[in-house]
Amino acid sequence: MAGNLFNIGRKTITPIDNANKPLSKSINVSNEMTNEEFDTIRKVIYELSGIYFTDSKKYLLESRISKRITSNNMKSFSDYILYLQRSPSRAELDALYEAITINETFFFRVPQQFDALESVIFPELISLKKTMPNPTIRIWSAASSSGEEAYTIALIILEKIKPLYPYISFQIIGTDINNAVIDAARKGVYKEYAIRNIPEQYLKKYFVIDNGVYYLKDEVKRMVRFSNLNLYDTNAMRALPQFDVVFCSNVLIYFDIPSKQKVVSDIYNVMTKSAYLFIGYSESLHGISKAFKLVHLPKAMAYQKE
Ligand SMILES: C[S@@+](CC[C@H](N)C(=O)[O-])C[C@H]1O[C@@H](n2cnc3c(N)ncnc32)[C@H](O)[C@@H]1O
Repeated sequence: MAGNLFNIGRKTITPIDNANKPLSKSINVSNEMTNEEFDTIRKVIYELSGIYFTDSKKYLLESRISKRITSNNMKSFSDYILYLQRSPSRAELDALYEAITINETFFFRVPQQFDALESVIFPELISLKKTMPNPTIRIWSAASSSGEEAYTIALIILEKIKPLYPYISFQIIGTDINNAVIDAARKGVYKEYAIRNIPEQYLKKYFVIDNGVYYLKDEVKRMVRFSNLNLYDTNAMRALPQFDVVFCSNVLIYFDIPSKQKVVSDIYNVMTKSAYLFIGYSESLHGISKAFKLVHLPKAMAYQKE
């Protein structure tokens, strides 16, 4: 972890460590994050999560971290940095991830990917597995946010796949680093923004609509298990089961190249032979991994484990 890069200037105080010994450097008391503080805090966040804040995101990080400083009754960025570098509580790390992650998502975000899942990938996986005892297809939404992606997959299985192949079991897992969005996913309650891309047939059949709020029915919620997982935590990644399909959409964009490479390699290791990986519409594994074959599906592309 980075050394303490405290800016000495403006108004300063001398921090006291846990043993009440004065530290050798002074810290800055200010609402403005210095470049040194920015460098240190982005390094701490990067080492914890793989999320990399580029220089242009300094003001975004400043405003998000300011809220954590206020909540912790601290006085400065340096106080908070010091706390993070020593032994932050689990609760504070969770609050930090809630503060810094971007959780934008909605149902049927890239419809072409879900069409390909329904028309090509599921039939192919089913024909591979159908002669096995207890055939099961495992799907992972690797940065599931509030659950829309994982539930989109559940809706397709319920509506289109299960009626044709009732003897196949499906397990869908959604994971995210942000506990608040995991709680929201488990609740399955959505606003207009989240459902705007859902074909009407799904909306009518699988949601209870009340006063502009969309409540996902239990039969869909039961199909997905959500849990906290940091994609940058290799030990946690190694503990995962093997998946036949992985969606890792719109999260690699927050990582730099080495952290993308690490995360994609760890994902590769939990994919079954010939499993498929979907990433975001505008994302690519170019320069990140050569371990996958790029597969052209009708109107969509996926990566397949070779
Ligand atoms: C923009 S959302 C994408 C949601 C969904 N996959 C989609 O494409 O619609 C990105 C999600 O990645 C999560 N995330 C960011 N860094 C992560 C990490 N290191 N491990 C797990 N999840 C992470 C964020 O909390 C956020 O919910």
